[in-house]
Amino acid sequence: MVATTKKTIENKPGAKETLLTPRFYTTNFKELSALDISSNREEIEAIVEEFRIDYNRDHFIRDKEFLNTWDFFDEKTRNIFIEFLERSCTAEFSGFLLYKEISRNLKKENPLLAEGFSFMSRDEARHAGFLNKAMSDFNVSLDLGFLTKTRKYTFFAPKFIFYATYLSEKIGYWRYITIYRHLEKNPNFRVYPIFRFFESWCQDENRHGDFFAAVMKSQKPLLNTYESRLWSKFFLLSVFATMYLNDLQRTDFYSTIGLDAKQFDIHVIRKTNQSSGTLFPVILDVDHPEFFPLLEDCHQANVELILLEKENSNFLQKIPSYFKMVTSLFKLYFLPAIETKYSWTERN
Ligand SMILES: [Fe+2]
Ligand SMILES: [Fe+2]
Repeated sequence: MVATTKKTIENKPGAKETLLTPRFYTTNFKELSALDISSNREEIEAIVEEFRIDYNRDHFIRDKEFLNTWDFFDEKTRNIFIEFLERSCTAEFSGFLLYKEISRNLKKENPLLAEGFSFMSRDEARHAGFLNKAMSDFNVSLDLGFLTKTRKYTFFAPKFIFYATYLSEKIGYWRYITIYRHLEKNPNFRVYPIFRFFESWCQDENRHGDFFAAVMKSQKPLLNTYESRLWSKFFLLSVFATMYLNDLQRTDFYSTIGLDAKQFDIHVIRKTNQSSGTLFPVILDVDHPEFFPLLEDCHQANVELILLEKENSNFLQKIPSYFKMVTSLFKLYFLPAIETKYSWTERN
């Protein structure tokens, strides 16, 4: 084993937070604790019961395959892996913090919701811990305590937390399962053992998504008003565009595991959009001939902006790229949406 000193990542020098960096969230706990979930209490109780069974209690145990050394990775691949683990760990940890805070604040007024959030924070803590342990295989670790104190928290009203977390759990599910199935068929690309854990892992994310869906169904205005149609489209587009722009900056990671980043994202977007069709009143028409070309325009604009940033260009020089990004996003938003068969009324 190469004797490298273990490095703790606190905050990368010069690393700039952008809209695409994994974020930490906070919300209005008072408003959340006052939610009346009685109209869909049974479904919520059933999911909390599933959480209680804790299917993955013994899943996240590092086996002997982790005892290998990973020194055969060249410098570039090593850095690609560290970045993947770091971003994933931050995202999982951000979920843990948010769910834990919500659970703590809801304990008295809304014990059932508090319990659901507490189980989900348990799962996310395991996911983040497992990823952080994996980072130590590459002689780095993430200082989660430091991260908790120093990261900026973005405030999201409860209803936005629901749209955003429902989608991030479902998209997480599709990402993990797609990578898992691909590596199952192509084991020669499974260059690191963590991917073997993705199958059961993604079931946690799927259950979390189901929990949010059940809570949203108890809040009918989140699903059956004109406003809810606009928000559904907005969050679908935001989550898809963020993933697309992020992943297309990291094609090297995907090619290391034998995936084409673009094809991977297109598949995940299609699947997540389809899953959302069982909850949202409208979903995006991803088969529209302009949908993916417009998303590609956003990516091109993003690449230009990154380049201009590296060249220390001023705002005026960036205007054409910003314009391209904003107009493409607008066009995407106003493409005709697809009506789903779900229209949530007080009876369902
Ligand atoms: Fe997770
Ligand atoms: Fe999750």
